Amino acid sequence: MSKTAYITTPIYYPSGNPHLGSAYTSTACDVWARFKRLDGFDTLFLTGTDEHGLKIQRSAEKAGMETQAYLDGINEKFRELSPIMNLSNDDFIRTTEQRHKDIATKMWQTLEKAGYIYKDKYAGWYSVSDETYYTEEQLVDGKSPDSGHPVEWVEEESYFFKMSAFEQKLLDFYEQNPNFIQPASRRNEVISFVKNGLEDVSVSRTTFNWGIPVPGDDKHVMYVWVDALTNYLSAIGWPESDKMKYWPAIHVVGKDILRFHAIIWPAMLMAAEVPLPKQVYAHGWWTSEGKKMSKSFGNVIDPKEVTETYGTDQIRYFILREISFGSDGDFSKDRLVERINSDLANSLGNLYQRVLSMVAKNVGHVPQHQNLTEADEAYIGQFNGIIGDVRQEMEALQFHKALERIWQVVYSANQYMDAQEPWVLRKTDPERMATVLRVLMESFKYITALIKPFMPEAASKFEAQLNWQVTDYKTLEDADFFSLNVESEIQKPSGVFMRVENKEAA
Ligand code: MSP
Repeated sequence: MSKTAYITTPIYYPSGNPHLGSAYTSTACDVWARFKRLDGFDTLFLTGTDEHGLKIQRSAEKAGMETQAYLDGINEKFRELSPIMNLSNDDFIRTTEQRHKDIATKMWQTLEKAGYIYKDKYAGWYSVSDETYYTEEQLVDGKSPDSGHPVEWVEEESYFFKMSAFEQKLLDFYEQNPNFIQPASRRNEVISFVKNGLEDVSVSRTTFNWGIPVPGDDKHVMYVWVDALTNYLSAIGWPESDKMKYWPAIHVVGKDILRFHAIIWPAMLMAAEVPLPKQVYAHGWWTSEGKKMSKSFGNVIDPKEVTETYGTDQIRYFILREISFGSDGDFSKDRLVERINSDLANSLGNLYQRVLSMVAKNVGHVPQHQNLTEADEAYIGQFNGIIGDVRQEMEALQFHKALERIWQVVYSANQYMDAQEPWVLRKTDPERMATVLRVLMESFKYITALIKPFMPEAASKFEAQLNWQVTDYKTLEDADFFSLNVESEIQKPSGVFMRVENKEAA
């Protein structure tokens, strides 16, 4: 049996175009999934769109379109995020698909059968923009405490989920599984929220119809979050399918939707007797040039536009390197340009370029190495345990730390090159030059393999330049020293990372 891994993005509301926020979560999940695959795991990476609820129905009305037709159009924009960000998602689920509706219905029936659903009357405030119910006390200045958007008074017959029955069970679970909610600061927030007491949740609506009908009572549609959360199971054919081998998943979400994933979803799963997710990881929010991203400031970052201007690998690198995963951060073009120029063009691209140009010009094939010196051994020693270190950071979704660890050896490689001066050895000691170049080339395999999940296109180019075929290695562990074939031809390389300018500042 092979080891399995499952990672999910939230399913996005297709009520506007995808922006940096959606690109961010999806890229983080993609890097993780690519890493796992390279590390020998049978991996499933899921993303998709959340297509029910009043918010969507109203967006379609505003566009003057029939709801499903509106969704089919805008859905394409979300699918396009995969080629734009180079995402390797295995599936893309839409909640209006029959496969999802069937399983959401089954989930409802399971909860009902287990005695956790009952009918009553709901009266309270509802924010359409957040698709969330609030009590009078929770409102801030009569508006949503989360988004500041207006709320509407709702009074209708409704089904309820017995959330209150799970208060202690959830607290026990968080205690027994300290890594379930990450980062730790978010975990503490959730715990205090639950300790304040959980009320039963209204899980159906009667005043609009854009949703999945409640089984046996089609006057009601399911509350959009109950429908949406189930997507993580409907994509793998719960309760019975080959794909159930991937469960439990890791859910990566923005901090604003942590409560749904860390409280409501686990309670639903407990009620349905489904094992709980492995982890819910809440990341922070991006501002743009120091301000909240918003159409009115004209500072919304469009993934298509920035990847076309700066390159997909460059943007993938920047968003995962710039801020620690879990914290908020700012997308600034100056910082982006600085990182591309210093980390990618200078430290990495230029290094490969210098080494491989020398090899192409002076040797023409992978150089033969001779006796290793202490300096060679010391440099090679820096790669001891690097795969394990990066693996550990990836396990903890600490993408910035994984990159920091990789860049430690990138900087060492530059220092080793500068200290050994192969361009001087070319005349004085060509055999020694060959050894130095060979040591560097071998070390590039580690660097190339480890950056591959982050920057797949650049890594493929580097592999080709090193004449290191993907068939030569299946997992990260195959990036060991002195396994390149000396017969392999090395051609003059062309640059992979170019210096850029801040086009807007210019
Ligand atoms: N449809 C729900 C999720 C259902 S999951 C069962 C939803 N959709 S959303 O489109 O509004 O938000 C999707 C994700 O984008 C959320 O995780 C949210 O945190 C994230 N982001 C939205 N704006 C963001 C930033 N400015 N920065 C980072 N992430 C942001 O909520």
